[in-house]
Amino acid sequence: MATAAAAGAVEQVNESDVLEDLLRERRSVRGFKKDPVPADLLERVMEMAQLAPSNCNVQPWTAHVVSGDSAERMRTVLHEAAKSGTKMTPDFPLTGAYPGHYRGRQIDAAKSLFAATNVAREDVAARTESFLRNFRFFDAPHAMFLFIPAWAGMREAADCGMYAQSFMLALTANGLASCAQGALSHHAEIVHRELGVGDDHKLLFGIAFGYEDAAHPANSARTVRDRDHVMHG
Ligand SMILES: Cc1cc2nc3c(=O)[nH]c(=O)nc-3n(C[C@H](O)[C@H](O)[C@H](O)COP(=O)(O)O)c2cc1C
Repeated sequence: MATAAAAGAVEQVNESDVLEDLLRERRSVRGFKKDPVPADLLERVMEMAQLAPSNCNVQPWTAHVVSGDSAERMRTVLHEAAKSGTKMTPDFPLTGAYPGHYRGRQIDAAKSLFAATNVAREDVAARTESFLRNFRFFDAPHAMFLFIPAWAGMREAADCGMYAQSFMLALTANGLASCAQGALSHHAEIVHRELGVGDDHKLLFGIAFGYEDAAHPANSARTVRDRDHVMHG
């Protein structure tokens, strides 16, 4: 890929390096500045996400983005529901305890977050408070709620995941940060009501996004990856 540099010279950009940088730079951010994303930038990022592939090109995702007053209202009602122990109403059953090494990976990620935020393992109140921040979408100025049609199955859910990663990488490429959040689907009934979405669509998960607050302790947490592929032939 060649781009015209300011001086008019042609600079060679290695696309693989650019993509790898973006993939490494994206991480779950759990502390945001209050500044909203400018509308034209948000529109551009949404258009980039829409380029995601899908089974038979059905593009089964519908993304609802809350900002401003709608974001404040949503975080207030979701936080209140979670804090008061209101019965959860997920559209898709929640995964139970992870088995074996999957559980190990979950624990490692949680340990990193608790170490970063100085939450002790035995401090149940602090852990609860940390979990409840999910429902305020970590004070991000925006949250996306991702729905798929009620008829959809696992394939369409996978399509939606592709959309989500495209969206998050597009955010990263534009200096923005995000955190995918299954927690935002726990009280689906409330989300449906707030957004006016009927039962012909099901809520899969949400994504908090905005500008990272680099000073927030949660944002120094880091995760690692195992090698998990098998080459044949
Ligand atoms: C579909 C999905 C749902 C997630 N749900 C949550 C969530 O509810 N709360 C949270 O803090 N992180 C959530 N995460 C973030 C993961 O914990 C995170 O991606 C993982 O630990 C790897 O860390 P990284 O994103 O910083 O690379 C979710 C991620 C995905 C892809």
